[in-house]
Amino acid sequence: MALFRSQNLSLWISMILFLGFCSCFCCNSKDDSSIHELLRSMGLPAGLVPKQVKSYTVAENGRLEVFLDGPCMAKYENRVIFESVFSANLSYGSLIGVEGMSQEELFLWLPVKDIIVNYPTSGVVLIDIGVAHKQLSLSLFEDPPDCSIPQAAFGNRLRNQRAFESLR
Ligand SMILES: *[C@@H]1O[C@H](CO)[C@@H](O)[C@H](O)[C@H]1NC(C)=O
Repeated sequence: MALFRSQNLSLWISMILFLGFCSCFCCNSKDDSSIHELLRSMGLPAGLVPKQVKSYTVAENGRLEVFLDGPCMAKYENRVIFESVFSANLSYGSLIGVEGMSQEELFLWLPVKDIIVNYPTSGVVLIDIGVAHKQLSLSLFEDPPDCSIPQAAFGNRLRNQRAFESLR
């Protein structure tokens, strides 16, 4: 005990550092996981939103806004690009009116409009990309994917979009 008392100051310092470290650790992991917990509580698979979420808000009207550090790309069955902010109307089992998320389809990047998991037990996620409805296995979306920023791919996306626009 005498030893502890004589080292009171350094004890305090290490305790403060330790608590600081803990609160950092706790808050970060809470922020990271809470969007995914929210999705699960709404009957949606957590993996619809990538790991690297900075923050999110849910407005009174149910509009969900998710903030990332920047646009990034994740891989499910096809590749998906998330803009730095993406949003959707969140209700049980669905994200309707999605903005800021596009999916690669036959070398084109098509905006995702709706994501519907009406029957969590059916094991299927329905993705509306305007020109088509896709049915994907729920298991693809169980775990939040890593979302990275490959510059080359973004170059491709721009080229594709220009090609797509010149077709119209
Ligand atoms: C999303 O919710 C807002 C507010 O309730 C509504 O005005 C808007 O039409 C909804 N969008 C879609 C695509 O349902």
